[in-house]
Amino acid sequence: MTSAYASAHERSLKDPDGYWGDAARLIDWIKPAEKVLDDSNAPLYRWFTGGVLNTCYNAVDRHVAGGRADQAAIIYDSPITGAKRTITYAGLLDQVSRFAGVLVGQGVEKGDRVIIYMPMIPEALVAMLACARIGAVHSVVFGGFAPHELATRIDDATPKALVCASCGLEPGRIVRYKPNIDAAIDAATHKISSVVVFQREQETASLTAGRDVDWAAEMAVAEPQACVPVAATDPLYILYTSGTTGQPKGVVRDNGGHAVALRQTMTTLYDVQPGDVFWAASDVGWVVGHSYICYAPLLTGCTTVVFEGKPVGTPDAGTFWRVIEEHKVRVLFTAPTAFRAIRREDPNGELVRKYDRSSLKYLFLAGERSDPETLKWAEDQLKVPVIDHWWQTETGWAICGNPMGLEQFPVKHGSPTKAMPGWDVQVLDEGRHPVEPGQIGALVCKLPLPPGTLPTLWNAEDRFRKSYLTEFPGYYQTGDAGFVDDDGYVYVMTRTDDVINVAGHRLSTGAMEEVLAKHPDVAECAVIGVADDLKGQVPLGFVCLKVGVDRDSDQIVKELVKLVRDEIGPVAAFKQAVVVKRLPKTRSGKILRGTMQKIADHQDYKMPATIDDPDILPEIEEALEEIGLAGKRPEVV
Ligand code: COA
Ligand code: AMP
Repeated sequence: MTSAYASAHERSLKDPDGYWGDAARLIDWIKPAEKVLDDSNAPLYRWFTGGVLNTCYNAVDRHVAGGRADQAAIIYDSPITGAKRTITYAGLLDQVSRFAGVLVGQGVEKGDRVIIYMPMIPEALVAMLACARIGAVHSVVFGGFAPHELATRIDDATPKALVCASCGLEPGRIVRYKPNIDAAIDAATHKISSVVVFQREQETASLTAGRDVDWAAEMAVAEPQACVPVAATDPLYILYTSGTTGQPKGVVRDNGGHAVALRQTMTTLYDVQPGDVFWAASDVGWVVGHSYICYAPLLTGCTTVVFEGKPVGTPDAGTFWRVIEEHKVRVLFTAPTAFRAIRREDPNGELVRKYDRSSLKYLFLAGERSDPETLKWAEDQLKVPVIDHWWQTETGWAICGNPMGLEQFPVKHGSPTKAMPGWDVQVLDEGRHPVEPGQIGALVCKLPLPPGTLPTLWNAEDRFRKSYLTEFPGYYQTGDAGFVDDDGYVYVMTRTDDVINVAGHRLSTGAMEEVLAKHPDVAECAVIGVADDLKGQVPLGFVCLKVGVDRDSDQIVKELVKLVRDEIGPVAAFKQAVVVKRLPKTRSGKILRGTMQKIADHQDYKMPATIDDPDILPEIEEALEEIGLAGKRPEVV
């Protein structure tokens, strides 16, 4: 008997029109697509060409019309403030249609961009959905980014308006957003004419006359707006993610493919039904937050949990279990980092057992490699399937997973299981040849990618082609390396570029190097990601000082740490740097970051054949020893 997974997967690749055409019935269309897969401009593919819909209608209005008006759409739970609030689908419709009116009142029209800089409060989702309602394109920026990063995004997205809250809340501190926003607007070349500010009770932001308006005051007088029909191929949002340089990549998401794919994954992968409570403990500033806090649960008629807290310390490592008990969560989705943090605080699971977790059916993990130890701990404690799944900002949903709603495969620790329907995952060597099972190579996906994945980068089609489509023609280059075993299980081992993953957040070492190079005493620098027990990886900087600089190295390191925090933001978690005399390089001048990383991670390493001056490596070891990160001597080969 063919398995449900095998037949779905095979059909999705052999008959994409039929497979995705059927999935499209999960969505209400104003006009159905003329073409399901449009390959007229290959290798740039589009989905559901000619189709017309509205994403907000599908996420909100249709559930009110369909009998879910009184069901909770959003449960807001903030252990930081103690606030809890439930918004029904009818209440959400009211807020979203009125906030759409606020945006229209600010001159926002279909196709205009709107930047959203909000903490984890329901208003963040209201703002996103209101943009979708009027066909405006939102770009949510994570609150942990500094003004410079916000300014870069303002200049790239050229938004008409910005929506923000007066503050975010980190344990023990109020993060005042408005000064960041004012600084970013000043620094940006593109001028924003309208800023809508949601004033939180913890902080009242000052408003700039003529530009800033108050969310509550505008909502009180706003004209509710109906849904605007948009093309399936029109952009729904832009989400910036780290590339290898300081210029982030603006990943574009369309309306039609996104709605279809996300709605479908709720059934096939997460095994949830309308009415279930789904909780992605992430942040709306990341792709997980876009897809699985906001859009997918609402497109499905589920209840989504908006959680403003941390897995530990708000107030303790039992907070996740308290939320599960209280709100009857069926599926929890978070990053392995959160579980490492919980396990560290509650190794024997005393807090886990304190709460009733009987509603919980699955734990899903993503955002970084799931280390088998953490995964086993979670399985032992929760006694539900713990499912690792692999995806990226670019893909918007899982490339690989264990499709709980289709067929449950035995879990192999360290693997996010198999390619999801729609994905043809292959492993190629540098010569673009497929490798044998078990051998590591570049993880690539045969084109076309399924619906919901990025059609391009905002204003940067060349960069899109160069970054993803050029090195392996006919394939999408994921930037990850790994292997596939004899059973078709995929293993994702490492990035192949200068992107690192800190606490499930993707960061660019290149961007940090650009910041360090701005320091007046720095002649040359390199940033690598080193292994960290809690966050998976943390950045570590190496700097060579300019000739003649004889200032105290500790002081310079402090200045460098501050510089990265000020320019990129606290989320970079850049806390360590070391001053070295020279950086190890190849004879052609390429810095040997991989070797430095191995030294810092205490791994064996071979002396690179192309190294220019082997004596530099012991110098690096010594410098690392001084900060407690000593390495091993190289094997002589
Ligand atoms: N606004 C402002 N600052 C923020 C922020 C936000 N939205 N989010 C994080 N920060 C700050 C933190 O306060 C911290 O500042 P500090 O250096 O002054 O301590 C810094 O950015 C680094 O944050 P983080 O790496 O998250 O570390 P943490 O020590 O605050 O928390 C964990 C550690 C493990 C609890 C936390 O990373 C976590 O919950 N991770 C779960 C993973 C997750 O949600 N991943 C998203 C993708 S699924
Ligand atoms: P982001 O775009 O921030 O979601 O980061 C995507 C990157 O995170 C991927 O390219 C991987 O390097 C890593 N990643 C995400 N999920 C997993 C996973 N389940 N296993 C291993 N790495 C992962």
